[in-house]
Amino acid sequence: MVAFAWIPFLLACVSPLSSVAAPLEGLTTTASFKGTPVFPPINYGLLCELPILQGICTRVAAKGSSGIQVTTPIGTAQGVADGSGANRFAVKYASATRWAASTVATKWAFPTGATNASGLPLACPQPSVDPSTYTEDCLSMILYVPTSLKANSDVPTLLWIHGGSFIAGSATAPGLDGSKLAIATNSIVAVMQYRLGALGFMAPSGATNLAVKDTITAMNFLAKVVPSFGGSAKKITLAGQSSGANMIRALLATPSASSLFQSAILQSDPINYGFLNASTQTALQSSYNTLTGCAATDKACQAALSLDAILDAQVTLGDNAPSIDASTGSAEPIRPVRDGSLITTPLDLTAAFPSVNKPILLSNVKNEAGPTIFGMFTGVLAPSVFGPVCEASLGDDRTATIQASPFYNTTNVADTRIPLEALGTDWVWRCPTWSLARSWVGHGGKAFVGLYVTGATYPANNGIAFCLESGSVCHQDDIEIVFGTVPNPTPAQAALTTEMQARYKAFLTTGNPNVAGLSPWTAATTTDVHAHQLGGTPTPSGEVPVGACDPSFWGAAVDYDYQVFGI
Ligand SMILES: *[C@@H]1O[C@H](CO)[C@@H](O)[C@H](O)[C@H]1NC(C)=O
Ligand SMILES: *[C@@H]1O[C@H](CO)[C@@H](O)[C@H](O)[C@H]1NC(C)=O
Ligand SMILES: *[C@@H]1O[C@H](CO)[C@@H](O)[C@H](O)[C@H]1NC(C)=O
Repeated sequence: MVAFAWIPFLLACVSPLSSVAAPLEGLTTTASFKGTPVFPPINYGLLCELPILQGICTRVAAKGSSGIQVTTPIGTAQGVADGSGANRFAVKYASATRWAASTVATKWAFPTGATNASGLPLACPQPSVDPSTYTEDCLSMILYVPTSLKANSDVPTLLWIHGGSFIAGSATAPGLDGSKLAIATNSIVAVMQYRLGALGFMAPSGATNLAVKDTITAMNFLAKVVPSFGGSAKKITLAGQSSGANMIRALLATPSASSLFQSAILQSDPINYGFLNASTQTALQSSYNTLTGCAATDKACQAALSLDAILDAQVTLGDNAPSIDASTGSAEPIRPVRDGSLITTPLDLTAAFPSVNKPILLSNVKNEAGPTIFGMFTGVLAPSVFGPVCEASLGDDRTATIQASPFYNTTNVADTRIPLEALGTDWVWRCPTWSLARSWVGHGGKAFVGLYVTGATYPANNGIAFCLESGSVCHQDDIEIVFGTVPNPTPAQAALTTEMQARYKAFLTTGNPNVAGLSPWTAATTTDVHAHQLGGTPTPSGEVPVGACDPSFWGAAVDYDYQVFGI
């Protein structure tokens, strides 16, 4: 299974120290793993494929019956009242021939797989799932529209871009029913799909970023149709989680997309990895062509490939990527490329930061690396394990600085998984997010930074005991809070949903998440990101401690991967 390709090399390096290695020794690899991270934002969606989790990973339910019709410039939209106070419209927003750029729909049509207005889209092709759940013709989205909305009300639209390490996920993944979010924010919520994996990023001709262009096509589609539903074409806000947030960061680095959206919300973006650079992409690309056996110019060969063959080659490419070019990492080796034409800046600390002006909202959860560390190490770890794991992931130099710092101290720590989890969270997600916030406000934009200390266990995390402990907020545990789709929420979860939806409503309208009656959320500055605590018992300042995300530590004393690799 591709998402776990990194486990063998980790076990290889800790096997003398860790009892968990023994049963898996046969999986160890001789490939060089130096510098390869062990804290990838793995595709937790694939955990839904594990027998233990089957049955709880239910997709968005296709409820709803009464027919709703809306006249749009491209024909009559047919939807259903879903019973929650919102109407749902599933639609094909674009079409694309294999490995060509997508073109925006010119006629309203149901997604492939749907035969009537209650039907939901099939996912985009992805490994390790039943092929009957996906179709190559997958460029669809689901619009959730409050029933109270009248045409030409000029309300905002939130376009949600799902996560899944660019190889998995869909608009119908758990928790992504946008009805409640649409109603609470009085906006249109659009949950879109984009091409995944090789079909989205490895066009044999060398064309780059097809999946990023799919999101641009989706924005063009929304600009055309949302006025018919009561939305304003000028008020589109992008929001996404994990690789979905990474996609949004790519769009923030795409000057040609800038006029298509007004603001952006990035939840749990693994910024540490950076974008791929063009030479790395070329190396992956030519390896992919070798794997499929189709020459770059042989269109007939490419068109004849089965989806199985394409996905098999993709899985092999993902496994091999770190040995082809270590800067790919193993977490999401297939990802947006700074190709110089679409994406023109790394948008990080390695190059001059561009002038920016959009408001952005950046959030993390308290234990981003919880599923990775506690999913991998199911027993208590001794302090002696910290150094070897850190070295295998970050190399000797960074490890030395990390171990000399006060931030991940293993003295008197009963279980070294705790500091390892904190390290993974800071390194891959939290600190590079704060670095981005400081750069953003230093170059003309406004940024609000938050950290969830209350969450709701996402189905894929249910098998990880740590994520079920009270106080843990694992990667993805913010999703159902934001969508208001937590099953049987506790009072604390319900209160945080109400708060976040009120803040999102304000942000969609004004670019500022401050709301009368809620604690003040101070905008980030170039020196202090003022990370607002989301949930939990309020701190005196309303903010969370800076810790290792001080500008003098991560990004300065200790480099992020994008700095190490100079991408
Ligand atoms: C509508 O489509 C769904 C599947 O998408 C199907 O189960 C249902 O029977 C269809 N309803 C009608 C009235 O055709
Ligand atoms: C691209 O990244 C690689 C690291 O994998 C680096 O060696 C190379 O110099 C970079 N190329 C450019 C053009 O920046
Ligand atoms: C770690 O904690 C111990 C005990 O509190 C302390 O003696 C030691 O100096 C700390 N190490 C670092 C690197 O801060």
